[in-house]
Amino acid sequence: SILIVDFGSQVTQLIARRVREAGVYSEIAPFTTAAEAFARMKPKGIILSGSPASVLDEGSPRVPQEIFDSGLPILGICYGQQVMMHQLGGEVRLGDMGEFGSAVIEVTDDCVLFDGLWQIGEHHQVWMSHGDKVTALAPGFRPVATSPGSPIAVVADDTRRYYATQFHMEVAHTPDGAKLLANFVRHVCGLAGEWTMAEFRAAKIADIRKQVGKGRVICGLSGGVDSAVAAVLIHEAIGEQLTCVFVDHGLMRAGEADQVVSLFRNSYNIPLVHVNAEATFLEGLAGVTDPEKKRKFIGGAFIDLFEAEAKKVGGADFLAQGTLYPDVIESVSFTGGPSVTIKSHHNVGGLPERMNMQLVEPLRELFKDEVRVLGRELGLPQAFVGRHPFPGPGLAIRIPGEVTKERCDILRKADAIYLEEIRNAGLYDTIWQAFAVLLPVRSVGVMGDGRTYDSVLALRAVTSTDGMTAEAFEFPGGFLARVSTRIVNEVRGVNRVTYDYTSKPPGTIEWE
Ligand code: XMP
Repeated sequence: SILIVDFGSQVTQLIARRVREAGVYSEIAPFTTAAEAFARMKPKGIILSGSPASVLDEGSPRVPQEIFDSGLPILGICYGQQVMMHQLGGEVRLGDMGEFGSAVIEVTDDCVLFDGLWQIGEHHQVWMSHGDKVTALAPGFRPVATSPGSPIAVVADDTRRYYATQFHMEVAHTPDGAKLLANFVRHVCGLAGEWTMAEFRAAKIADIRKQVGKGRVICGLSGGVDSAVAAVLIHEAIGEQLTCVFVDHGLMRAGEADQVVSLFRNSYNIPLVHVNAEATFLEGLAGVTDPEKKRKFIGGAFIDLFEAEAKKVGGADFLAQGTLYPDVIESVSFTGGPSVTIKSHHNVGGLPERMNMQLVEPLRELFKDEVRVLGRELGLPQAFVGRHPFPGPGLAIRIPGEVTKERCDILRKADAIYLEEIRNAGLYDTIWQAFAVLLPVRSVGVMGDGRTYDSVLALRAVTSTDGMTAEAFEFPGGFLARVSTRIVNEVRGVNRVTYDYTSKPPGTIEWE
């Protein structure tokens, strides 16, 4: 296995993902507990992540000495490179200017990381994001690639099997990054690359059994793929110790709540409590317009209802959720860790401290497409597994401004037309997420001989591989015009339709 030491980069989990893709098991440990994780795991190699910190700052994170003393191969990425140079006797300085975004490096020497990939003299695109740079090599290292902003862009010490790059090889913007990482894992660490999702399933089932023991687990279904996959996995692990509770907040898309209930009750025979709480949620959302307040309220109400159900079930000790990695990275910060909260996705950030159940979150390390692979591995139907992601707070965060029953119904109708057209055009599976947003803006229109003054609807469709970055989807000519016409004709209350072309970043996928 590989131990990934996390210094708090926003993209550390992508390293884990790339290592999984190379067919090798890995675990991430925050630098604060890296020494313990190292002793427990007995890994075959170490990867040091990036960080928002600077090695020049007093008290900034360091690599535990045991790791250098172990004689194992080490790969440093960005801050990982700088901290290696700093601790091993090189020099890091504040750059005159930072380097953020695409950069081109020139290969100046052979390196095992480049095996079968890059030759001396070639130029390759990579992704940089750093302020400091390495200005003097630590003893034993040689430079093997260079860029205008980072003269020491990649370094190698073949004797100790230490390698480090200033660029981020784990992100998709470094096109050859996954292969560079695979070279480290396979050729340097000598790992075979035979790990699969079937093993992940088996490992998680063992973890769940160990964590839960004879306890009772109550699993919150959201109606989406993630919580369903989590529930089926947990059911496989502990059977009747699991009860699923579907708190139906009434903020789902047309027809989706019924599909979930039927899947669980009829196809899987998993005990399911269906709580129809639409009225409670709408009452609580009355007058609330701030996106974070909506999330906090919905998260809180969810937990309240769970607690009530847990009592009825007879003292559940654990609450299971289908939290994925992108929910975690955008919600959580740990000491020395990621800096800003962009959105507190309710299934993580909204949990009140008072909750006296422990969390079971078997998908916490996975990205969406990996959850789909796991779902198929567990036998869930493709039509369900292939569903676009849907946010926990549902339509509430697709109705900027106040959420009312009337506005939910308008949105549901328009959204259903949009998705029907997408399916008919055979585009559903090429799009990561498509949905409509009902704006708190009214515009003047003319229908028949009359003036209208109704709401504006925004359509959104994005492509993405992990939800962390996204591009607006380009529909074929005529498609949006057709959808727009249908919506304005068929949905009372909407008289104008717009299309959102913003990518992420700088936008986010949802509007709130
Ligand atoms: P953003 O809007 O942050 O969304 O680019 C990234 C992904 O997360 C989903 N999302 C949420 N999921 N609770 C969730 O469970 C939330 O509060 C939430 N907000 C956004 C979003 O649909 C996209 O897939």
